[in-house]
Amino acid sequence: MIKVSPSILAGDFAKLGEEVKMLENSGADMIHMDVMDGSFVPPITFGAQMVKTLREHTKLPLDVHLMIENPQNHIKDFADAGADIITYHAETIADNRAVISMIKELGVKVGVSIKPNTKLDEIMDIVDLCDMVLIMTVEPGYGGQELISETIEKVRLLRAHALHLDIQVDGGINDDTIAIALEAGANVIVAGSYIFGADDKKAQIEKLRG
Ligand code: DX5
Ligand code: ZN
Repeated sequence: MIKVSPSILAGDFAKLGEEVKMLENSGADMIHMDVMDGSFVPPITFGAQMVKTLREHTKLPLDVHLMIENPQNHIKDFADAGADIITYHAETIADNRAVISMIKELGVKVGVSIKPNTKLDEIMDIVDLCDMVLIMTVEPGYGGQELISETIEKVRLLRAHALHLDIQVDGGINDDTIAIALEAGANVIVAGSYIFGADDKKAQIEKLRG
């Protein structure tokens, strides 16, 4: 089953409560929240307080993408705030197993993500411990970029290895790129500018299901 996780990074930060309600009414399956720390990636967005605030505005799962250094220091805060899935970046951590256990013990689903230049080999030994793998299809940090087509090969390889794993793609998903992502085996689709850039959000979300 294809799940669509709109990224609120492309939304109006002055009214994110309304934005998530609107996405829920438009058929979104979860809400993708991009947490950036100004270190792992240049911009700073928001932290656990925003997760806690939006938790009160939707029943949809909150899909929290941590683009931060030392995620282990913040995971409990995000779990307590109401995150349903916490995805950290493999590049930020030496001991993946410890972080995965930490997230699971908090009763939250765990995702691991890799940047476009990080090889799948780096995480192959731990993907079976995760609920989801996020293959970044752009360099993390900004919405509205073009998908890097070489990243799709990682989706294909991973799908061949893990038939039932949730494989998420994030970055540059639009009318031109969705087909190739789905065909390679992605089943959790993040989209920011594609959804927020159109008047009919419901139609955009539906189109991402292939
Ligand atoms: C980028 C973020 C993405 C971003 C995607 O670092 O992880 O979630 O919002 O934006 P689009 O869909 O516009 O490429
Ligand atoms: Zn993201």
